[in-house]
Amino acid sequence: MKKIQDYYFKKAKREGFPARSVYKLKEIQERFHIIKRGQWVLDLGAFPGSWTKYAAGLIGPQGGVIAVDLKGIKNPPGNVVVLEQDVFTLTPEGLEEITPRMDIVLSDMAPATTGRKDVDHLRSIALAEKALDLADALLPVGGTFLCKVFQGEDLDQFRKSCLDRFSSVRLVKPKSSRKESVEIFVLCSNRRA
Ligand SMILES: C[S@@+](CC[C@H](N)C(=O)[O-])C[C@H]1O[C@@H](n2cnc3c(N)ncnc32)[C@H](O)[C@@H]1O
Repeated sequence: MKKIQDYYFKKAKREGFPARSVYKLKEIQERFHIIKRGQWVLDLGAFPGSWTKYAAGLIGPQGGVIAVDLKGIKNPPGNVVVLEQDVFTLTPEGLEEITPRMDIVLSDMAPATTGRKDVDHLRSIALAEKALDLADALLPVGGTFLCKVFQGEDLDQFRKSCLDRFSSVRLVKPKSSRKESVEIFVLCSNRRA
């Protein structure tokens, strides 16, 4: 397992990404083609910035990424707006002042872990629910929402909340996500009317 960690860690260094987590998004992108040129992306839990950098490259200069985290990203690409703030203080209205259009909402947010699985799961679900509320308020019909969650007993309820708003909801565990990690990604496509 250590070997795999080293592989993605070194690969990220070599390819100029600040974290190995970029390969989770890259795998999902290569399988489902969720991010397209010219789009506007909301990236929640963006620090240290590998998803942001990857998404910014895919959308190109006609699009934009709003990168939100408790910690600010350093030296972001030119098409990125960095918001150093708690997601729970974000409002759809505040984001609409930056861009009137949002095509996709990503959340790789993770709570500071306590080592207690049930507590960490519930905190992760709280972050995911806030991300879903923002996606619900901001995305047009057909929009996409991708969200990391720590697995646990409330995941099924969260998946159902997603299904109320999106016509397709899949659970995805990328190869680059450590097998022993409880994280899983909920990929929601086709926001309902
Ligand atoms: C796994 S890291 C994200 C890695 C990032 N996607 C990348 O590829 O570089 C999870 C992030 O969630 C952020 N986070 C946790 N709680 C948050 C909150 N309430 N508001 C904003 N960001 C939060 C953490 O600060 C942390 O940087």
